[in-house]
Amino acid sequence: MFKKRIALFASGNGSNALRIIDYFKDSSTVSVEFVLSNKQNAPVIERVKELGIETIVISNEEAEDSELLLRICKEHNIDFVVLAGYLRKIPADFVANMPERIVNIHPSLLPKFGGKGMYGIHVHRAVKESNESETGITIHFVNEEFDKGKIIAQYKTTLSPNDSVEVIQTKIHQLEQTYFPVALDKLLAS
Ligand code: GRF
Repeated sequence: MFKKRIALFASGNGSNALRIIDYFKDSSTVSVEFVLSNKQNAPVIERVKELGIETIVISNEEAEDSELLLRICKEHNIDFVVLAGYLRKIPADFVANMPERIVNIHPSLLPKFGGKGMYGIHVHRAVKESNESETGITIHFVNEEFDKGKIIAQYKTTLSPNDSVEVIQTKIHQLEQTYFPVALDKLLAS
């Protein structure tokens, strides 16, 4: 059986990218082909290089170039692109050419706390400010609208009124580390 070949796009620390790489390292069904970043100095790049996995760095200008992204994915025979803390908007033509082939993780229970400017700590602050009794993560397909693609899976955690923004962040991080690879595994097996 052919393995599903995935590309990871990441801009930051890469804890999600590293977890996914680790989860699939001995998989007979999925292989991580490369990690792409729009930031030369992103910690994810060094960390992935140490694992011997190919890294590709592009500029912010190139991140808007659908043809370039499509060519890179074609050259590597990529089946799915996984956005793991990737902070650039995916260009429309690239999305149109990869229908239900680009997956994102968002650190809230969409449609709550999604949209422009809602990423990382900004999401957790907004959750705290609106006194939510729960939060969670959403794994969804990417379409032409920010955080509005079809939802694949959601995982929740409860919040207490005393939880600080940092505590919320830690709870989300734990959900991501546990469930993001599992959700991908299920999706790619279907
Ligand atoms: C994660 O919280 C993810 O949900 C969000 O960006 C963060 C990335 O963290 N989209 P890392 O770079 O994977 O450590």
